[in-house]
Amino acid sequence: MKITIIHGQSHKGSTYHIAELLAKKIGGKITEFFLPRDFDKFCIGCSNCFMKGESMCPHYTKLTPLTEAIDSADVLIFASPVYVYHATGSMKAFLDHYGYRWMVHRPHAPMFNKQAVCISTAAGAGMKSTNKDMADSMFFWGVGKIYQYGVGVQAIDYKGVPDKIKQKIEKKTSSLADKIKSKEGHVAPGLKTKAFFNIMRMVMKKGWNQADMNYWKDKGWTEKNRPW
Ligand SMILES: Cc1cc2nc3c(=O)[nH]c(=O)nc-3n(C[C@H](O)[C@H](O)[C@H](O)COP(=O)(O)O)c2cc1C
Repeated sequence: MKITIIHGQSHKGSTYHIAELLAKKIGGKITEFFLPRDFDKFCIGCSNCFMKGESMCPHYTKLTPLTEAIDSADVLIFASPVYVYHATGSMKAFLDHYGYRWMVHRPHAPMFNKQAVCISTAAGAGMKSTNKDMADSMFFWGVGKIYQYGVGVQAIDYKGVPDKIKQKIEKKTSSLADKIKSKEGHVAPGLKTKAFFNIMRMVMKKGWNQADMNYWKDKGWTEKNRPW
């Protein structure tokens, strides 16, 4: 399988190690990016992506290698340490650049057949809200199957993680990898995604943004076609 990892940090700590462990257990070609090292731009709020098209984003060229890796992957891994109960600012700034891909705008059809894993680690707490920061984008991008894995590592780096917790990480990454592998080639979105997509079909028939309306019409999604 093709796996793309987006690391919400540029260093190789606990979060990095868990994401790597999982990717290796899934097996296949791994492409990875570190934030902010590989993409360090903040959305400037020009709304060009929504109104004129994503190629009008001032950061489009810099974002393209990451977008291509995401689009060509079977499995996406988004990994972030917990910083004050949320994903890192770098991860948030990165995800902001894909607002135009939310189902309320112009979702990318291949997303509906991909799997994604959101991984976060904290010293103690905040994994749920951090994973949600990333899983919200995954859901609204239309990703077919989303897993969330948060670990309280009781440490500030990987070598400080107690052995007992490392054993749990081994077990959980193995079971996650098995689930992901068993779904290879037959991922389809669940009811919640399909229901939201259907609401958007209605909205897009009348619409408020011409770029979005044209996109849905061209894809045939306001008629009988579906992206999955
Ligand atoms: C700026 C900053 C904020 C943090 N905020 C939290 C927090 O809200 N809750 C928590 O339990 N740990 C917090 N931590 C600790 C890290 O989340 C924790 O050590 C994590 O496992 C680090 O992952 P890493 O080794 O991949 O960098 C914070 C650390 C930093 C540097």
